[in-house]
Amino acid sequence: MELTAYEKQMLEGAHGPAPRFAMEVLVKLGQIYGADRMVEVASAQIMAHYGSLHDAGLELAEKFVALGGRFVIPTTEDPLSVCERHWRDIGIAEEYAAKQERLRRAVLTLGAQPAWTCTPYFAGNLPRFGQNVSWAESSAVSFANSVLGARTNRTPAGLNYCAALTGRMPRMGLYRPENRRGQVLVRVDAGEMSSLDYNTLGLIIGKSVGNRVPVVEGLPDSAGVDDLKYLGAAAASSGVVALYHAPGLTPEAMAGDPFGGQEPLERLRVGRDELTAMRREMNTATGEAELGVVGCPHYSVPEMQQLAGLLKGQRLKPSRELWVYTSPTVYELAQGMGCVDDITASGARIMDGNCLIISPLGKTPYRTIITDSAKAAYYLPSEHEVQMIYAETAELVSALVGG
Ligand code: F3S
Repeated sequence: MELTAYEKQMLEGAHGPAPRFAMEVLVKLGQIYGADRMVEVASAQIMAHYGSLHDAGLELAEKFVALGGRFVIPTTEDPLSVCERHWRDIGIAEEYAAKQERLRRAVLTLGAQPAWTCTPYFAGNLPRFGQNVSWAESSAVSFANSVLGARTNRTPAGLNYCAALTGRMPRMGLYRPENRRGQVLVRVDAGEMSSLDYNTLGLIIGKSVGNRVPVVEGLPDSAGVDDLKYLGAAAASSGVVALYHAPGLTPEAMAGDPFGGQEPLERLRVGRDELTAMRREMNTATGEAELGVVGCPHYSVPEMQQLAGLLKGQRLKPSRELWVYTSPTVYELAQGMGCVDDITASGARIMDGNCLIISPLGKTPYRTIITDSAKAAYYLPSEHEVQMIYAETAELVSALVGG
């Protein structure tokens, strides 16, 4: 690999042992994948949840601290595996919470911003079109590549720490323009679409295209940022879609032919019937909803406002719970707008900075969960022994309030 003078200095240890270790890893990775050189990355989104990194990840983060490492680019991180506000009341084990706390402290010592979210673009980590970044977490990666037009691979946990310590990644995968061309044409013919429709469409696309790049035509002009967030999150869950293009909506598709002058390898059509069938497939529960979970990916300010409007003046039924996942940044904004009070007055809990999939369910007895998120409906049954009801947000609220 061709390295710049600065990259060679890092590799030789001139900038300290942590960047040296990180560069050694990145150079080896680049050699394995045939990268010709490094790219400069403008920001990192790293993983810091103990539920995925376990002891090995904790030890790596603490090793970088012991080596005196400092992140050299703006770095945010995924949600924590415990909610600092509620972990005791839902029965998370002390030992588990203590290890998550060590990991939290380690990444802050390395210089990360305390964002604790899978929507870092709502919390100050906002790359521009065409900028290289090194992000982890599949929904955030999809959003960065597709909606923002930035460039990143689905960077594994340890490599992201190396990127944050050096500001470099090997030029491979989606950093290369030729790997960003559309491969599968998805024609959507479903009329106006609800938030749940975008979630469901993402599931269908992910299952159909695997790790190829879809070009999604026919989405309504009304598609909003949260709709595109859900589409990408779902496609990255049921498939390995790290990038999609949507002509008229996403920037790379507006800058030129998303197929780069080539014919699609495959064509699909998704209509109302396919959306209805997939929605039915995701509903696995036979009983009534006991626990509602929303905010996967983390709820935005408009979603907190919408939920507050639905819950205002309502109370959850006895022995029903609603857990709302969002970032600490959005929590602060929603609190300033009065939304937090309207939500929590109903009996719902707001789990800011936390994730429902990578957290233990604690000692909660709930086994029938209702959600408005395809990603949550897809993953929760494999992570916990639960049955799912997959529904629009308003239907979810109706199922939980009253009595
Ligand atoms: Fe975010 Fe956790 Fe869902 S990281 S996308 S809330 S699985």
